[in-house]
Amino acid sequence: MGNFALTRRMERPQNQLLKALTQVMARCNDPLLSPYLRPIFNPNKTPKPWNLRMSTAISPTAYNYKVVRQFAIMTVVWGILGMGLGVFIASQLVWPELNFGLPWTSFGRLRPLHTNLVIFAFGGCALFATSYYVVQRTCQTRLISDSLAAFTFWGWQAVIVGAIITLPMGFTTTKEYAELEWPLAILLAIVWVTYGLVFFGTIVKRKTKHIYVGNWFYGAFIVVTAMLHIVNHMSLPVSLFKSYSAYSGATDAMIQWWYGHNAVGFFLTTGFLGMMYYFVPKQAERPIYSYRLSIVHFWALITLYIWAGPHHLHYTALPDWAQSLGMAMSIILLAPSWGGMINGMMTLSGAWHKLRTDPILRFLVVSLAFYGMSTFEGPMMAIKTVNSLSHYTDWTIGHVHAGALGWVAMISIGAIYHMIPKLFGRAQMHSTGLINTHFWLATIGTVLYIASMWVNGITQGLMWRAINDDGTLTYSFVEALQASHPGFIVRALGGAFFATGMLFMAYNVFRTVRASNPAEAEAAEQIAVVGAH
Ligand code: HEM
Ligand code: HEM
Repeated sequence: MGNFALTRRMERPQNQLLKALTQVMARCNDPLLSPYLRPIFNPNKTPKPWNLRMSTAISPTAYNYKVVRQFAIMTVVWGILGMGLGVFIASQLVWPELNFGLPWTSFGRLRPLHTNLVIFAFGGCALFATSYYVVQRTCQTRLISDSLAAFTFWGWQAVIVGAIITLPMGFTTTKEYAELEWPLAILLAIVWVTYGLVFFGTIVKRKTKHIYVGNWFYGAFIVVTAMLHIVNHMSLPVSLFKSYSAYSGATDAMIQWWYGHNAVGFFLTTGFLGMMYYFVPKQAERPIYSYRLSIVHFWALITLYIWAGPHHLHYTALPDWAQSLGMAMSIILLAPSWGGMINGMMTLSGAWHKLRTDPILRFLVVSLAFYGMSTFEGPMMAIKTVNSLSHYTDWTIGHVHAGALGWVAMISIGAIYHMIPKLFGRAQMHSTGLINTHFWLATIGTVLYIASMWVNGITQGLMWRAINDDGTLTYSFVEALQASHPGFIVRALGGAFFATGMLFMAYNVFRTVRASNPAEAEAAEQIAVVGAH
């Protein structure tokens, strides 16, 4: 009888909407998917500050948004500095006079400062901000300790300031992406372990039954980064600013590139995939395309990445079998990488039209496109014969920035734009038009950067290997450098586009934050009823 009544009601045309909603809810009630879909698929509209203040559903406890706000703002600040420095060193390659003849302003010292600022300061702050935000909201609980969280913020900023001081002075371990000398490396390790305590402690005291998949990715990124950093930094200090690696020869190289590659795999990929699994569904207001795929994606990715490091050491003293193993693992890595990319993209099924009006969603989706592109290019470059052409050339630099600008920076920017209004109790960012302008500056900048580096890289590789009939080299190194000059100009221009977009972002964030008042910001922190994330 009840079923009959339901059927009768459903037949009436005005109940079509109800029918559609019932179907969506039925999907959410699927015993396998429900725990995961419910938290992420919250059809509620963007919370309005006045709703937050008036709502009776607000619980007496609140999220710790202070530390999230701090990290979010610093993401923008370090982004501008790191990318601004990127434009400067790109300009040094066009106009060498910009080295000013001073050691501390030379390319060799500023280059590692650029990589440290963009990876650890900009990328790191984005990861801290989003992981603290996501873990609280998906676990429906406040961070386990405010003081430890504050320590991670100030400790992390101290490491960055330490890098800004010591790297231009020439203090370096010489290991790429691990240049910081031992006192700073120890501070970094302490901050990182504290981060792990805060993150996993919050998961332990969660109010929800399940651990949302985004947290798995963040968790793996935190654990593996700690392991990589500590193992690779094993060294013998001989003075306050000089230490020697505990490893030697080919072993040292292998440890370094096991670290280096997994810094890419876990810091620049796995952590940002955690971001993807939260912010793409939230911004699209759609559940993840396939939760099952996300689990396969997770295990396959973390199992494979760790083996691929030797592709950085092709044709070196590293045993040949290790190089071939690294190559094989890198090729297989294409599968989980694309699995994740497709999972993110397909989340937009039925919501593609939103791309016309929502530039934040555009940032997130285009970042996935660049992720797909760079994870196709990477396995190809890992093939020994391809690597014999690409290695040491600008092709590698192009690949790096397809991932760094296209994927890492774009997804971070999208996530920050999503979070800022929510963190400060505003309905939306100050200007959607400015976000749109930023989007186009970032996209055009990335394309200019990577296209010029492809042209340069292939030109350099071919010129270096060209040989005359008598066995002598056809071109001198300087001739290949001269041929690269136009590409260097285009790259600097692309970088300037990207960095200018960051200035628009800073202004937009500033206006949004300034428009917020303490009551709105405080209301935004309240933990809403279960189900709202
Ligand atoms: C405005 C944006 C940027 C510009 C203009 C820029 C420019 C540069 C330049 C000129 C180099 C040195 C290339 C060489 O040695 O020939 C470089 C290296 C590097 N940059 Fe950027 N960069 C930018 C943004 C970023 C971002 C956002 C990231 C990471 C999230 C990043 C990561 C790196 C890395 C990892 C390297 C070292 C690559 C290698 O050793 O193979 N960059 N960048
Ligand atoms: C399936 C995924 C990927 C594979 C198999 C892969 C493979 C490679 C290969 C073969 C190289 C060149 C090594 C050399 O000749 O020295 C390389 C360099 C690099 N890749 Fe990837 N890549 C992948 C994804 C990514 C992503 C998503 C990013 C950035 C977010 C990235 C960042 C880098 C960096 C920073 C380097 C330069 C390392 C250095 O020499 O300093 N890669 N990658």
